[in-house]
Amino acid sequence: MAELSMDDLMFKPGLMTGERILITGGGTGLGKVMAEACLMLGATVYICGRRGGVLEEAAKDLMDAHGGKVVPIPCDIRVPEAIAEMMDTIWADGGALTGLVNNAAGNFISRTEDLSPRGFDAIANIVFRGSFFVTLEAGKRWIAEGKPASVVSILTTWIWNGGPFTVPSAMSKAAIATMSQSLAVEWGGHGVRFNNILPGPFPTEGMSARLNPSQSQETGGGYRDMSGNPMGRVGEMRELANLAVYLLHPLSAYVNGQSIAIDGASWQAGGGGFARLRSWTDDQWKAAREAIQATNAKDRAKRTV
Ligand code: HXC
Ligand code: NAP
Repeated sequence: MAELSMDDLMFKPGLMTGERILITGGGTGLGKVMAEACLMLGATVYICGRRGGVLEEAAKDLMDAHGGKVVPIPCDIRVPEAIAEMMDTIWADGGALTGLVNNAAGNFISRTEDLSPRGFDAIANIVFRGSFFVTLEAGKRWIAEGKPASVVSILTTWIWNGGPFTVPSAMSKAAIATMSQSLAVEWGGHGVRFNNILPGPFPTEGMSARLNPSQSQETGGGYRDMSGNPMGRVGEMRELANLAVYLLHPLSAYVNGQSIAIDGASWQAGGGGFARLRSWTDDQWKAAREAIQATNAKDRAKRTV
């Protein structure tokens, strides 16, 4: 289902006309809503992911609701050759991208001592290596053609204070924050700039099933208790979408190398991570793992690349 109406956006119609934006993982969750906002404001939007059917459905859903052009491209960002092919397809479809959102990710809660090397790689290969290779493939083209661009990476506040029970994700996100800071300087002179958005809890199917597996089953993806958050609530999709549009638009061009949290000040108040899970029993961890792996298997069955 499409999520937004023009009343949800703080920008004038047509603001993003002429912009060409790739959103990795844009077929679901936060990626889809950022795609929707860019589309509604006139951008051409490309979305990628591993489940071709999910992408097709998202593109159709958004274009049925708002018109415009959303192009679904099945691509596994763990495969550098597949990323190069995707960039060739995009460049052949109308020229350079003007913006990239590194949004695709994998994550699950686990005691770190329970992780296997494959478990670590399952996350690091998407977030750490995948986000870098996507950025590199686009960056090489921008620099060769002398085109400016905005890169926005969707990270978490764990880059500042760590992420207990989500260590491979926290480590990988922190590495991408370092990438953004480094390339903001290295490529700033080329007009290619880098900023990070660090969302607090924004309930999505993909996130809730893997980070709140038991609550997710009880509440359909919602959160029961937000008393630890100073604003007392989760984030609204439109709040995130407006921030992403701002950072992608050329009029924010002097904003470079920044990380912006959008979490109601949760991380200042109590960390915003999963420290509370220290009290979980072996049985609770077993149940969580089984619920997460059932979701993983269901999603894997839909992958087309
Ligand atoms: C321990 C686990 C596990 C768990 C999987 N593994 N789940 N280990 N606890 N809960 C291990 C498996 O046992 C296996 O290792 C290895 O990980 C690979 O598992 P696969 O299922 O084969 O992986 P794969 O099919 O590649 O799937 C990747 C994935 C999956 C990351 C595991 O979750 C995925 O595709 N996710 C994409 C969507 C997603 O995660 N969205 C959430 C983003 S939310 P062994 O050794 O047993 O073979 C987010 C929010 C952050 O990031 C901030 C919130 C505030
Ligand atoms: P989500 O719906 O599960 O989104 C993850 C997306 O990444 C999916 O569309 C998935 O599609 C794609 N993806 C995963 N592996 C991929 C790969 N190898 N190649 C290409 N695409 C891949 O979860 P979400 O909550 O919207 O999360 C989006 C981003 O926000 C993530 O970076 C997450 O860390 C961040 N974030 C979310 C929250 C939150 O509260 N929701 C908070 C902080 C940060 P396929 O499975 O089809 O490939």
